[in-house]
Amino acid sequence: MPLNSIERSGERMADQPRQRNLKGLLLAGGKGTRLRPFTYTGTKQLVPIANKPILFYAIEQLAANGIADIGIVVGDTKDQVVAAVGDGSQFGVSVTYIDQPVPLGIAHAVKISEEFIGNSPFVLFLGDNFLKEGISRYVEQFTNGGHDSLVLLSPVSDPQNFGIAEMEGERLVRVVEKPQHPPSNLAVIGIYFFNAKVFDAIRSIQPSARGELEITDTIQRLIDDGLDVRSEAIAGRWIDTGKHDDLLEANHLILEDLQPALIGSHDEASRVEGRVVLQEGAEVVNSRIQGPAIIGERTRIVNSYIGPFTSIYHDCLVADTEISGSVVLEHTRIEQVGHRIEHSLIGRNVELHGHERRPHGYTLILGDFSKLHMP
Ligand code: G1P
Repeated sequence: MPLNSIERSGERMADQPRQRNLKGLLLAGGKGTRLRPFTYTGTKQLVPIANKPILFYAIEQLAANGIADIGIVVGDTKDQVVAAVGDGSQFGVSVTYIDQPVPLGIAHAVKISEEFIGNSPFVLFLGDNFLKEGISRYVEQFTNGGHDSLVLLSPVSDPQNFGIAEMEGERLVRVVEKPQHPPSNLAVIGIYFFNAKVFDAIRSIQPSARGELEITDTIQRLIDDGLDVRSEAIAGRWIDTGKHDDLLEANHLILEDLQPALIGSHDEASRVEGRVVLQEGAEVVNSRIQGPAIIGERTRIVNSYIGPFTSIYHDCLVADTEISGSVVLEHTRIEQVGHRIEHSLIGRNVELHGHERRPHGYTLILGDFSKLHMP
């Protein structure tokens, strides 16, 4: 278990979950271009939500269900994933890394994992997907039902951007990837259950127009071959964190249930109200923190206001500034910003500096694709 884990993944790790005959396959490759410029170089699956990498929630949910043999498919950013996850022992699981040098699709990632999976049934979990309620209910359903596959569905407002399910009553009859004319608003979420029959299905599909082996085409093949493919509409909140607003929403969802823990320090002049976590070495000086909010390790908050639903990651400085409803990544310095920062995502090693003197002007060094909304 990670030492600094703030257990808010929707299900707590049982002390000793029953070991399952089910493997886990996590995808942590891909380019994450939709998160630019918030992160260019960072692995999208390692972006912290409530100061914990999104990928860790998935690993914890697998571990909580006794799924201890986990493969992680990695690409360009393998080093970062290995540095963060290691051999899995911090989570009580064993991790095997599987290289996918070129991102050729989700089904391709599954295909190259055949040796790791062997004959075992498995959960495929896209590392940027977040399911607040956890996966226990579906692990039971898949295991007890003895199905060939179980796919989970959730309604979305933009079905053109997802794999979409077509139902006949309770029965899943078709899945189609990012359809122009969606047959429903039910997205196939990025957490799937399969048995080893999936490998034959993958062998018989062709790359799609975007050049990828699609998981949706794979599921369609299983259906067409008459295999037992079930679907289940999930009850809780699911977020594909690949986009900016979704990240802020996931941050909000987790902070909603934050367990307060004041491990770091605050001085007498400061007010820390509501559910607040000050991680180890965090220091709050002459400031007000209105939770839910989390302040990372060694981060200093000086003469500032931190409003609800804000996560400031490790080694940051926020001085003479008001910030609320935002996520800030590590090693960033925000000082003397004259207006409150709201609903913002601020990446690593960013410097935001205001000043008191006149004339008030802006000095900017903004990278490609930056977005700045100024009043
Ligand atoms: C992928 C799948 C899609 C699924 C989605 C869930 O899309 O191809 O079927 O609905 O994940 O997050 P991508 O994120 O690759 O666009």
